[in-house]
Amino acid sequence: MIQTVTDLSGLRAIVNGWKRDGLRVGFVPTMGNLHAGHYSLVELACRQADRVVSSVFVNPTQFGPNEDFTRYPRTPEADTSGLERAGCDVLWLPTVESMYPFGVELAAKVHVPGVSALLEGAHRPGHFDGVCTVVSRLFNQVQPDMAAFGRKDYQQLAVIQQMVADLAFPIEIVGGAIVREDDGLAMSSRNQYLTAETRPQAATIHRVLQAMRDASLAGAPRDQVEATGVAQLQAAGFQVDYAVVRRPDLSEPRAEDGGPRVALVAATLGTTRLIDNVEF
Ligand code: PAF
Repeated sequence: MIQTVTDLSGLRAIVNGWKRDGLRVGFVPTMGNLHAGHYSLVELACRQADRVVSSVFVNPTQFGPNEDFTRYPRTPEADTSGLERAGCDVLWLPTVESMYPFGVELAAKVHVPGVSALLEGAHRPGHFDGVCTVVSRLFNQVQPDMAAFGRKDYQQLAVIQQMVADLAFPIEIVGGAIVREDDGLAMSSRNQYLTAETRPQAATIHRVLQAMRDASLAGAPRDQVEATGVAQLQAAGFQVDYAVVRRPDLSEPRAEDGGPRVALVAATLGTTRLIDNVEF
């Protein structure tokens, strides 16, 4: 049976008990409204740890003023039963007051320079400060040995890895594979904002990313690959924030460089902003 815990002392008592027994603790932080992508992370954590904690906390500090904090879907009952089925041992449900005891304005903030400023950071100012601020708090609350993050949020994973290395959190960070719908659309809580008209178009993002990958591997120049990606997304009705090919650390590759790459897209269809990526 999953145990739902809402007070920090209760969480600490459970995790300390596990640690006294020599058990490895895994952690999957989420904002709830869970889907197969989240559950695959819980299953990944279950394979790599003896006990797994998952948190559900819709973090106000990572949403911009015109973003979807208030309408972000909240489905606590379904989340609890889904987490139990996936093998999660403890559901940690902090409140805004316990997460930010001095209030959001006076909260100590964690800023990871460099990688936070690129791509998503440029289009959502302050977003990664909010993510790092809450994830560092969650790490201190849960004190896991490993934590799993989805590769759909590719840049988030890179920012967290840098934060953990820089602040010496003794936590192994593991990236979980993107889980897709049958037509290729990456699973996301925000997919439910799509309408009957926009939902079929949304899978275009994955097709464009695959085309960007194939053209890059065939030797097409990066600026041409990116311009074609933008044009294809616009033709399908998207407003495009970016469609780029980067090195794994998100720096801009030079033409003569070999090595692995990642194609990343952020684009809005109707009122729904979607992100996705393909690594190659
Ligand atoms: O990826 C998410 O759902 C959130 O950004 C996270 C990591 C739970 C922090 O609020």
